[in-house]
Formats: sequence, C-alpha cells, structure tokens
Amino acid sequence: DLGRFTLAIDGPAGAGKSTIAKCLAQNLRCTYIDTGAMYRTVGLFCIQNNIDYTNEDAVNSVLSQIGIDIIYEDNAQKIYLNGVDVSTAIRTQEVAAAASKVATYKEVREALVDMQRKLAATKSVVMDGRDIGTVVLPQATLKIFLTASAEERANRRLLEYEAKGMEVAYDVLLKEIQERDDQDANREVSPLKKADDGIEIDTTSLSIEEIIERIAHLLQERL
Ligand code: CDP
Ligand code: CDP
Repeated sequence: DLGRFTLAIDGPAGAGKSTIAKCLAQNLRCTYIDTGAMYRTVGLFCIQNNIDYTNEDAVNSVLSQIGIDIIYEDNAQKIYLNGVDVSTAIRTQEVAAAASKVATYKEVREALVDMQRKLAATKSVVMDGRDIGTVVLPQATLKIFLTASAEERANRRLLEYEAKGMEVAYDVLLKEIQERDDQDANREVSPLKKADDGIEIDTTSLSIEEIIERIAHLLQERL
C-alpha cells in the first residue's frame, strides 16, 4: 500500500496520456480521471443544441444547463451528460475541436476544475489533462509531462483509426493536432505547459510499457 497519492499527467493530444494513465491507475489500484472527457462533453452539448461554441458568452449562458456525471463501471470511467451516457459520442474529431475551443473560456474552466478537485479530494487518483500539474492539483505527489513529435502523434492517431477500419488522411490528422496544440498552448487561461516541478518524458521512441515502468518508479521514489 502506497498511502494516498495524486499523480498528474499532462501533455498534448496523442502523447499517450490516457493509455498510460489508465494502465497506471489499474496497476496502482486507484481511480483514473480523464478531464479531457469533461471538456469534450461541454463541446458535445454545444454541438447537439446548436450553441455557437466559438462565442464565449453563448457558451457561458448555457453552462448551468450542462449536467456532467462521472461514473465508474467495471473500473472504466463513463461520462454522462444530463443523464445520458456520452462516453462514445465525445470521441470524434468534431467534438475534439469544440472541446479545445470551449477550453479557452475562463468560466468553463472554473466549473470543470472545481469538479476535478472534488473528484480527487479524498482518494488516490491518476488524472490526465493539460493543466493538472499547473492548476488542478498543484500539490500532486508527482507531475508528469508527456510529449512526442506532432508527426509521431498524428501517426498514432492514424493507426487507431485504421484499427477501427476507418479511413482518415494522415495530413488531416497532423493539421488537426497542430491546430489543437497551438490553441491549447497559446490560450490565456491555463495554457498547456509543463509545471516547474514536473518531469518531462519524450515518448516518441519509448514503448507504453517503458513509460509506465518509469512513472511507477518515480512515484515510488516520491512516496
Ligand atoms: O490521451 P492522449 O491523447 O495523450 O493519447 P492516447 O490516446 O493515450 O494515445 C494515442 C495512441 O498512441 C494510442 O493508440 C496509444 O496506444 C499510442 N501510443 C503509442 O503507440 N506509444 C506510446 N509510447 C504511447 C501511446
Ligand atoms: O484525447 P486528446 O488528448 O486528443 O484530447 P482530450 O484530453 O480528450 O482533450 C480535449 C481538449 O480538451 C484538449 O484539446 C484541450 O483543449 C482540452 N483540455 C483542457 O483544456 N484541459 C484539460 N485538463 C483537458 C483537456
């Protein structure tokens, strides 16, 4: 038993955050919290209800209508929007783009950060996102910043789509990743960046197992 700990994993799209955070949470027998899913759910709500998500005031004015619940079924995180399971519906490129846009809005971030802190208040968690080490859990036991070249990350996404039998052009994926990187890193509120006391791991030429081992070892050292 390691005692209570919080592990923050940040980084750009396709760096391997969710894959690695999920495995670590399973190995360490603690809760995995996917914060990107929450921004995606706000994006999905806007798309479904014809709210212009590029308009900050329009999004702020519907925030109180967006009920998000995080539920754990068989150890997997399920996310509900006003009572409906949207865990699969949020995994589209269109929703990712909307999520990245609404994630630039201060009121959206404040509401979601508050939820995220409450979820982590009493138990051991592995939480992944963009601002976990810098804003959500500044006292985290360990902060990891995962990176990989944009080309490598686009290629990983391509392989994921191919595995699902879907045809997507590599150039389109690369452009989408670069646009989201740019928006996430250059926004005013909580931009994507490594915490001063975070540890950066370039995953470009590391296997998932190697990264998991490295992080588990670092966490053990901290505890
Ligand atoms: O959560 P995030 O967007 O950071 O990335 P992910 O969805 O966990 O990973 C994107 C894809 O890259 C997944 O298909 C992983 O299996 C793969 N991956 C990899 O091939 N090698 C790594 N070292 C890390 C992730
Ligand atoms: O899986 P992927 O890495 O592609 O994205 P995600 O983690 O599901 O996050 C979707 C979008 O939400 C990101 O592009 C960010 O703009 C935003 N996000 C954020 O701003 N802060 C977080 N803690 C998590 C996600």
